[in-house]
Amino acid sequence: MKTIVINNQKGGVGKTTLAVHLAWHIAETGGRVLLIDADAQGNATDTMKRHRGEVTAAELFRPVRAPVTGGAEGITLAASDSSLTDVDRGDATSIQQFRDNLRAGSAAFDVCIIDTPPSLGLRSVAALGLRGHFYINTR
Ligand SMILES: Nc1ncnc2c1ncn2[C@@H]1O[C@H](COP(=O)(O)OP(=O)(O)OP(=O)(O)O)[C@@H](O)[C@H]1O
Ligand SMILES: [Mg+2]
Repeated sequence: MKTIVINNQKGGVGKTTLAVHLAWHIAETGGRVLLIDADAQGNATDTMKRHRGEVTAAELFRPVRAPVTGGAEGITLAASDSSLTDVDRGDATSIQQFRDNLRAGSAAFDVCIIDTPPSLGLRSVAALGLRGHFYINTR
């Protein structure tokens, strides 16, 4: 699974637009895409809610009983909800938790796209810190 993180601390610069179009394009070409909406504003979730999977984005920052599932062609959305803001108020163990949960689910997807909030909190750090992955920093 390749992971693409869309991040910029500036708001309103096209992160979500890029994340959603990229996810859609990869799915249309036959890829299995995990789209994680790590922004509590939930704009990617509003657009892609039809593709909601069983695991939410907030749950990926906590110990989860089952790894994220999906695996069919197309998009599986790890949806945003308001509890995402608690992650940035919590401790840094959520960073490793997020990485472990992604690794546990990685065989089920070809590409993971992470839409991040316009701030450098724990959620963005967890996503950006994924070693050996490819980042797009929108301007
Ligand atoms: N390439 C583009 N050309 C014109 N308008 C665009 C383009 N990309 C995004 N927009 C518009 O800019 C606005 C902000 O885009 P978007 O929500 O993707 O930004 P964002 O960086 O995700 O914002 P936030 O930081 O609040 O999450 C939207 O109205 C979107 O339709
Ligand atoms: Mg956005």
